[in-house]
Amino acid sequence: MIGELMLPSSPPLVLILLGPPGAGKGTQAKLLQEKLILPHISTGDLLREHIRRKTPLGAQAQGFMDKGNLVPDSLIFDMLFERTSHEDCSRGYILDGFPRTIPQAKALQDRLKDKPAPIVLNLELTDEQIIERLTKRVICEKCGTPYHLIYSPPKVSGHCDRCKGVLIHRPDDTEPVIRKRLTVYHEQTEPLIHFYQRLHLLHTFDCTLDKKEVFDHILSIIKG
Ligand code: AP5
Repeated sequence: MIGELMLPSSPPLVLILLGPPGAGKGTQAKLLQEKLILPHISTGDLLREHIRRKTPLGAQAQGFMDKGNLVPDSLIFDMLFERTSHEDCSRGYILDGFPRTIPQAKALQDRLKDKPAPIVLNLELTDEQIIERLTKRVICEKCGTPYHLIYSPPKVSGHCDRCKGVLIHRPDDTEPVIRKRLTVYHEQTEPLIHFYQRLHLLHTFDCTLDKKEVFDHILSIIKG
């Protein structure tokens, strides 16, 4: 696919995965990463890595994340833009979980102003479907790959198909915290749909479909 979609001479491709918690951003980002050979940058994964390494940033972020609140923009910007400055991002990258607020979207537009416009992939799912998905999700402790205990279970129970890492439940995947994350999404992140619609960059996908069908639909938009 790299030959079909991304020639070495292709302009950098920035994909933004937008959508509520549990809509399938991480799932689609992993599939896109493999197909397009572009780095998958998840601000949630970066923050969890800081928490795991017990860095000062991780210590500041943890309280916000455990309660289902957003981490302040001031902590997110340096972490994210430091990552996108790495050499492996020169052909583009896949953003998962960023931007999440209007100031974050504006800061990203500012960074990309001399570059081709990003493609914004908006994943849609209802709140009740999200709760059903997240309460039965497990993720790989090592590489972050998400599984669903019913819809996409691992081949070997408790272990990641990709890297054999141990599968765990995320501490913010309890129903009260999921409901709080949904409230935060509707208040602070949903306005980005209108923001990107006005820029004619938004493509919306029905994520009640099977993950492969959603992925094929996304690829058809990128090819187009
Ligand atoms: P983050 O890690 O980004 O979490 P999130 O946005 O809440 O999204 P999730 O990772 O929970 O879900 P997803 O959409 O990736 O779904 P998945 O593919 O796993 O953020 C966590 C926290 O970090 C935030 O609350 C905040 O505190 C902080 N943070 C992060 N970024 C920030 C930022 N920019 N600014 C401020 N704070 C920030 O899929 C879910 C489940 O469904 C899985 O089990 C999967 O297997 C299954 N599934 C996926 N697709 C399908 C399908 N089509 N059919 C059936 N099942 C499916």
